[in-house]
Amino acid sequence: MNQHLRPEPVPFIDLAAQRRRLGKSVDEAVSRVLTHCQFINGPEVTQLEAALAAFSGAKHVVSCASGTDALLMVLMAKGVGRGDAVFCPSFTFCATGEAVALTGATPVFVDVDEATFNMDAGSLKRGIATAIKCGLQPRAVIPVDLFGQSADHDAIGRVAEAEGMFVLDDAAQAFGASYRRLGTFGLVTATSFFPAKPLGCFGDGGAIFTDDAELAETLRSIRVHGQGSDKYDNVRLGLTGRLDTLQAAILIEKLKIFEDEIAARNVVAERYARGLGNIVSVPRLASGCTSVWAQYTIRLPKGSDRDAFAAALKAQGIPTAIYYPKSMHQQTAYRDFPVADGGVPISEALSDNVISLPMHAYLDEPTQERIIRAVRGALAA
Ligand SMILES: Cc1ncc(COP(=O)(O)O)c(C=O)c1O
Repeated sequence: MNQHLRPEPVPFIDLAAQRRRLGKSVDEAVSRVLTHCQFINGPEVTQLEAALAAFSGAKHVVSCASGTDALLMVLMAKGVGRGDAVFCPSFTFCATGEAVALTGATPVFVDVDEATFNMDAGSLKRGIATAIKCGLQPRAVIPVDLFGQSADHDAIGRVAEAEGMFVLDDAAQAFGASYRRLGTFGLVTATSFFPAKPLGCFGDGGAIFTDDAELAETLRSIRVHGQGSDKYDNVRLGLTGRLDTLQAAILIEKLKIFEDEIAARNVVAERYARGLGNIVSVPRLASGCTSVWAQYTIRLPKGSDRDAFAAALKAQGIPTAIYYPKSMHQQTAYRDFPVADGGVPISEALSDNVISLPMHAYLDEPTQERIIRAVRGALAA
């Protein structure tokens, strides 16, 4: 093939464009940490937690080493363990159910809503019945705000409350999305700052948001090996769960442009909806919700060959990704855990026909037009 005719590759997520926009601010923030050398628990960690609290409206923010640790630390703080059932959507990233299984509790997989891809409250009720039949104690629900849009927290909260369960919101993909103020639904929210997330650092990172002061204090202890008031008297089991000062310093700079990036992501999502809404199933926002568009995930028409579609786009320099080709209950490590009565047919159907298109705040209109033309062409072929 003539190299000169190869179409310019489009990035799936353009972190380099964001670096250009941030100019020297991140380099200077990193340099400040390299100068003061407080790589663990440096002043930037507390500054970031205060900035995240102001941004989200939550009373307490506990930064931590990853989104997975954020989930695990909450479950540990609440004493979740063997014999407990924790309800997760099956159509999610594996960390949601993994954190549950790591505590010794049993993840019970429930189905999602076809329109929003988020936990279905009806399936949650069926999952509770399944758990009780298995002799498990319903303890907690982990709704996931998938691809950037909040789950139906009111409906899920009602089911959880009736059963005496707490709600841990997995907002790893959705920090910055609105439903209501973080901390005003559920007990606690966990997020991830993995580089590809809407607010990402340059490594691993996460945070926990809650209005519950006692829970926040326990989480701060778990974050440092279960430390008590005496540094060498550890009062519970914990982790090396801290966020590095360097990552905190980077996040402080990125948070300053985050609101603007969310607005830009929404412009990109609207252009996709206009350009593709009549040929594929495009994401729908539930009323009152906004999304931060961690992914722009479409569903191909029935009978489409997803691999051929992805190959056609790739040939034109356009990357795609499949989140998630297997729902959790279909994966080797998780297939022995219970699934809600009636199964999870929507999760399975989504795993068969979703595909995500390039999405980031710096996707310009001509590039996006190229993607839209390529999608339309691949479907017509
Ligand atoms: C829904 C969900 N939960 C949890 C996580 C875990 O976050 P991390 O990779 O920071 O551990 C992710 C990360 O992709 C995620 O998408």
